Parts: sequence; structure tokens; C-alpha cells
Amino acid sequence: MLGGKNILLGITGGIAAYKTTFLVRLLIKAGATVKIVLTESASSFVSPLTLATLSKNPVLTSFEDKKEDSTDWNNHVELGLWADVMIIAPATANTLSKMANGICDNLLLATYLSAKCPVFFAPAMDLDMYKHPSTKASFEALQSFENIMIPATSGELASGLHGEGRMAEPEDIIAFVNQYLSAGLPLSGKNVMITAGPTYEAIDPVRFIGNHSSGRMGFELAKEAARLGADVILISGPSHMHIDHESITLVKVVSGSEMYAAAHEHYAKADIVICAAAVADYRPKTVADQKIKKASDDLSIDLVKNKDILLSLGKQKKNQFLVGFALETENEIDNAIGKLKKKHLDAIVLNSLNDEGAGFSTSTNKITFIDKNSHIKAFDLKSKEAVAVDILAEITSRINA
Ligand code: CTP
Repeated sequence: MLGGKNILLGITGGIAAYKTTFLVRLLIKAGATVKIVLTESASSFVSPLTLATLSKNPVLTSFEDKKEDSTDWNNHVELGLWADVMIIAPATANTLSKMANGICDNLLLATYLSAKCPVFFAPAMDLDMYKHPSTKASFEALQSFENIMIPATSGELASGLHGEGRMAEPEDIIAFVNQYLSAGLPLSGKNVMITAGPTYEAIDPVRFIGNHSSGRMGFELAKEAARLGADVILISGPSHMHIDHESITLVKVVSGSEMYAAAHEHYAKADIVICAAAVADYRPKTVADQKIKKASDDLSIDLVKNKDILLSLGKQKKNQFLVGFALETENEIDNAIGKLKKKHLDAIVLNSLNDEGAGFSTSTNKITFIDKNSHIKAFDLKSKEAVAVDILAEITSRINA
């Protein structure tokens, strides 16, 4: 959810400010761009240099740009509008009270008042301050302004006392924000399983039978499903593609048998399954223990059929929306519909090898989406990223219908 988002982090003066270094790291790791506004007192608890280094952006504390001879100023309005999400953590009783009352005597408060995005605040203070009626009144006022509170937790406090008032841990702040942002997305709460890439079928310890699938289509589908709010299990054969997204779990496999086992392991929990892998249809009957020597002029390798993962999933289907791919060269629509029926699919994505730019080793694809009611929709040649958007739009419109 946070990938590609502009996150404005406001840090106020409490001991929990030291934990924001971890929060910044997690935000950056999630793919967010982070800018930080620090109150003067917060800089006693955490160094602006540390935060600037971690966030890769200058840290702002005052309206004036402190660089020598600079006539620039830090524009709170621009900052507020730049942010997709603002997080104030730790939020002290003092800052919360000022926010609740529209007081605007520092850059952080002015930026808060200028922000149009969702604003999260994670209070941190001693237990009696947390319980105080004036603090509770601040919480209520801020929530009535549609700011979102990330409640403090209980535990040992800096004062040595035990109770409520510890700032939520950075991981929990991230999870909280993610959950909020994903609620309302079309695939929020859904589990999506995707197979991708080629499979390698070993001949001996150094050789295999494989194919030219790049895995790109499956990886793009995984990214798009995650962008729509899903939790994704991406089962991929050997591929050079990389993925780093907190809602995507990459399960790496090599052979068709490994992919079969992984797909069946995760199937029961899945709401949507898309089999985009180019699974080898056959594998060597036996795998030589040692490297095969070139002893004779001819070499024959006996092959046996790999189990069809999609067919097996189709036979066990309960509530899953199951989608397959078909790569055809002739009678494309009829063959694809035949596969859809044989494998008990809800939909099939047809690629025709007759279409230039379509197929599995290109960065583009041209698809026809066919559902089990024989509704057929042909799309133009597009990047695989754009094709993934089309495929998931077709799927979500059917499961949310
Ligand atoms: N598939 C699979 N497991 C296999 C073979 C294929 O899960 N062992 C899946 C692919 O991921 C794809 C679909 O089945 O979603 C279509 O596979 P394809 O090879 O086009 O069709 P087949 O049914 O194998 O028929 P043929 O190769 O004869 O066209």
C-alpha cells in the first residue's frame, strides 16, 4: 500500500522519537518517499542527520531555510499538499492538544493544518498523561476531524511506571496504515495465488529442460493484485524478475512438481488463482545422479508427463475464482474455450502466437479474456503491466458482481 506514496512524517518531542528511525527505514523499504518535519524538542531525542540519511531527504524543523544566505523558506502548504499520508509519531500530549485546537506555532503544526491527506497520529506519553481528560478530549476532537488514531500500547514507560502510553511499535504503525489504506480497495481482504515463470526439469546435476518464459506476466499480475489490496502468494519458477512488496510472498520453485506441491499447499486459502506459469509439459523419466558424459553419438532421454497443476486445481475447486492462460496458434477461441471447460475454469486468458508482440518472452502482450459464460473481450497490444491491470479489472468485476 505504501509503495510509491509520499509520506510526511511529523516527529514531536518524546523519548519514543528514537523509534522513528526504524519507522523511516520500514517506510523506505516499503517503497515510499519520506519527508520529515521535526519539532525543536524532538531534535533532542533523535538526530536530524540520522533521519535525513535514512529518509534521503533534508529534515525540516522551522519555516526558515537555515542554510547560510538562503532566502528560501519551508513551505508548509506545499508540504501538506505533497503528502499522500501524514503520520505524526510520536505525538505528544502538547502537540495533540495544539492540533485539536488549531494552534499553529511551528512548522509541523502549520503543515498538519495544510494537509488534505489522511493524517494518522500515534500518541506516546506517560500513563497519567494518557488518561487525563484533556488528552482524551484531544483524541476525540482529532478523531472528529477524521484524523486516525494509532492507539498507544501498555508496557513499561520511560518513567519506569507500567501502563498505557507506549507508542505503537514501528511495524505496527506500518501495518495499521496499510490496513487503513487497503480497506475499500476492490481486493482488500482477498488472497490471490499466482503461478509464474518457466519450470526447469532436471536431466542431470547441470542440465535441464526449460523454456523462454520470463515470468513477467505473472509478476505484473502479482503487483497489480497487491495494488488492489490483495495478499498475494506468487509461486514462480526460475526468473530474473525481482519483487519486493510487503503484500506479496514469493515462493521460489524450480520444477513442475515443486510448483504443483506449492500451488496445492496454498490453494485452500486462495480466493482468486491465476495460473500464468509456462509449466514444462514433460520431464525426464529419471534424473542422472552424475553429469551425463558424451559417450555416444546419440542420446535419448525418456520423458514423462508433468501433472497439470491447473487441471488438478480445477477439479478441487470450491469457492476460488480460477483463471488459466492459453497460448494457441490455430482455432484460438475454440481451443481456449475447450481448455476452460476441461480445466473447470472461471475464465481463461488467450494469447495467440499469430499476434505480433504477444507471448511469453516479450514485454508486451495481446490478450482475449474469455469467461465461463463465453463472454469474450479482446484487448489491444499493451505492456504486460497494462495487461495485468485489464486482467484484474475483468476478474474483480466478476467476483464483486
Ligand atoms: N498449466 C499448469 N500445469 C501444467 C501445464 C499447464 O498449470 N502442467 C497451466 C498453465 O499455467 C496455463 C494453462 O495450464 O494456465 C494452459 O496450459 P497450456 O500448456 O496452454 O495448455 P495444455 O492444457 O497443456 O494443452 P496444450 O499444451 O496441448 O495446448
